[in-house]
Formats: sequence, structure tokens, C-alpha cells
Amino acid sequence: MAWRLTLFVLLGLVAAVGGARAKSDMLNVCMDAKHHKPKPSPEDKLHDQCSPWRKNSCCSVNTSLEAHKDISYLYRFNWDHCGKMEPACKRHFIQDTCLYECSPNLGPWIQEVNQKWRRERILNVPLCKEDCQIWWEDCRTSYTCKSNWHKGWNWTSGYNQCPVSAACHRFDFYFPTPAALCNEIWSHSFEVSSYSRGSGRCIQMWFDPAQGNPNEAVARYYAENGDILLSRFQGSTLGVSLLLYFILSF
Ligand SMILES: *[C@@H]1O[C@H](CO)[C@@H](O)[C@H](O)[C@H]1NC(C)=O
Ligand SMILES: *[C@@H]1O[C@H](CO)[C@@H](O)[C@H](O)[C@H]1NC(C)=O
Repeated sequence: MAWRLTLFVLLGLVAAVGGARAKSDMLNVCMDAKHHKPKPSPEDKLHDQCSPWRKNSCCSVNTSLEAHKDISYLYRFNWDHCGKMEPACKRHFIQDTCLYECSPNLGPWIQEVNQKWRRERILNVPLCKEDCQIWWEDCRTSYTCKSNWHKGWNWTSGYNQCPVSAACHRFDFYFPTPAALCNEIWSHSFEVSSYSRGSGRCIQMWFDPAQGNPNEAVARYYAENGDILLSRFQGSTLGVSLLLYFILSF
């Protein structure tokens, strides 16, 4: 009888420890991608729009500098593929790059992909609705030729150009709504949230670091409440150990 009880307790412990480990793996982490540091740490000299992440960052100073350049060494991405992107619009793409490269708070949305250029990506990060709305409003009058900027470019000249089949139109032709922009542009890396900035339930692309990084609490919330699959796993491990306990008892 005693050994069965021991087995039961052991299996229960495995489930509990497994759950705790998985949760801590989601907090304060860097994704395994092209330019990310292996682990977050302070970077006192992060450049300009990336500076909110100085206290704890997945990007190096070099990456933060490159994030502000056109056709930078990061991805050779050309924002001006349909003529000059307006500065008011471009600053959102710089901020998006800073969030992607520097944030240690995207763990709950990291997925394995094993693409040629990265092992992990982010999927459905709940972007605060105002951050998406302003991004869209400031970019409405700039021009582009595609609604998914991850695929379908002509890279023959070493940076992305519009393929001959894709015509340049105003942003609001390819992205009729804020959600169309934020969700589609990077293949659902973002999923616009119905929550507002300051709610603690959505990720802010823009924040004032004097008040700390609001995304830390958001990641903690989704690590605790968003892991439906994980709690199912824990539940089933507990279920199996209970079942074993009763089978072995008779
Ligand atoms: C960042 O590093 C890359 C690769 O070492 C280099 O080519 C680039 O010039 C650096 N950028 C800055 C701004 O130092
Ligand atoms: C790609 O760009 C090159 C150089 O700009 C051009 O000659 C070629 O026709 C383009 N191909 C497509 C499929 O757009």
C-alpha cells in the first residue's frame, strides 16, 4: 500500500514541477531567432526608440542602432518599396522592430517554426488596440504593394522590392482596418486586442520606462491564465496517476 501512495505522490510532483517549469520558461526569455541574445540582460546604451528596454533587453546595442536604419543589416528590409514611407509611419515600424528584437516579455506567444532564418517566432501577441489604431492612422497615407510583408517579395537586388505583379496603393487599400494591418502584415505575429493600454491584458509597443515595463505583468498574466494546453497536460498526468493508484489498489 505504501509504495502505491509513494508512486501517486511522485507522479503528482512530476506534474506540478513540469507545470511550474513550463510557466517560468515563458517569463523573461528571448526567442531563438536571427539577432536575439540568448538571455535578457541590461543594455545601458540602447538607441533612441529601443531605449525603453534598457533595463532588461533581448537586443544588443548594435541591433538597436540597426533597427532605426533603412535596409539595415538586420533583414535588409526596404520600408520605401513604394516611394518614401512617411516618417510618422516609419516610427511605428521602428518601434515594432524594437519590440520584436528587445522585448523579454513575449514568451507566452513564442512558437517553434524552424524556418531557414529563425527557430522560433511569435504568434498572436495581443497588441493593445490603441497602439494598432495609431500605427494604422499614421500609415494610411503611405504606400505599399502587399498585405503580408513576410512573403512574396522580389529579393534579387539584395533588398525587398515589389514583385511586378503587385501594384503600389495607399496603405488603406491593402489594410482597410487597423486589425488588417496589425494582424496580417507579419503573418499573425500580432492579434489586435480588445483591451486598452494600461489594462495589464495587452502588450504595449510604446511605453514610458519611468513607470517600469508594463509588459512584464501582461506576460505573467498570460503565462498563468493562457496556458490551456498546459493545464490539460497537468490534469491528464494527475488523472493517469490517480487511475494507476486505484488500479493498483485492487
Ligand atoms: C552591427 O554588426 C554588424 C555585423 O557585425 C555590422 O555589419 C554592422 O555594421 C554593425 N552596426 C553598427 C551600427 O555598429
Ligand atoms: C525582380 O527585380 C529585378 C531587378 O529589379 C527585375 O529585373 C525582375 O524583373 C524582378 N522580377 C519579378 C518577378 O518581379
